Amino acid sequence: MLKLIHASKIYAKNGICALNAVDLTVQDGDYISVTGASGSGKSTLMHILGLLDSLTDGEYLLDGAAVAHLSAKQRARLRSEKIGFVFQQFRLLTGMTALENVALPLALQGVPRHERSERALAVLERVGLSDRANHRPHQLSGGQQQRVAIARAVVTEPCVILADEPTAGLDPAAADSVLELFDRLHRSGHTLVLITHDERAAQCAARRMHLENGCLFG
Ligand SMILES: Nc1ncnc2c1ncn2[C@@H]1O[C@H](COP(=O)(O)OP(=O)(O)OP(=O)(O)O)[C@@H](O)[C@H]1O
Ligand SMILES: [Mg+2]
Repeated sequence: MLKLIHASKIYAKNGICALNAVDLTVQDGDYISVTGASGSGKSTLMHILGLLDSLTDGEYLLDGAAVAHLSAKQRARLRSEKIGFVFQQFRLLTGMTALENVALPLALQGVPRHERSERALAVLERVGLSDRANHRPHQLSGGQQQRVAIARAVVTEPCVILADEPTAGLDPAAADSVLELFDRLHRSGHTLVLITHDERAAQCAARRMHLENGCLFG
């Protein structure tokens, strides 16, 4: 479970209050979407939930542990254990195959080689791409690359998958394939937070939230 309690983020550089006393509970198995205008604080919220940044005020409980004010090093360790990220730009490593990309987080966790390949292949199968395991990103369509990126986010069995505009760079059919995959992951018990400009994508979530000037509604 993820819980923000009166969470605020003020960027020291410019004094902007990007999150203003946000309260949010994400239960295990939830699928929530967060919409909001440009600059409303969506990426800031994702960075906080994903332990990429720390709060200036308030508390963040991740699986019951208070994590709002950890050091960058402590956050990094927890992040690799607990969080799966999906970004608009896929962020796959171009010199690696789909299988190697998906297996990479397991390598960082010290999982033995044979187990890494087995687990990565099983997840590629779940996203419908086991026949593309040995393809490099440039040999895959945008939608396929995003599904590989989702497989990479899922392979470590994180507490939550955080997706920031995962369909924004895709044509409608590819976006649908990604949204269908999120739906399947949700139905199999995964916890998802989908940050999006796309009304259609937002409606796919089980629960909708909306950010306005750093305040969260819904
Ligand atoms: N690293 C930073 N340093 C200073 N200000 C920042 C930083 N990141 C974001 N901001 C400011 O915080 C506010 C919220 O930004 P954020 O990136 O969270 O918005 P967003 O909702 O993701 O926007 P978009 O839809 O354009 O991606 C904006 O006013 C932005 O300029
Ligand atoms: Mg953003």
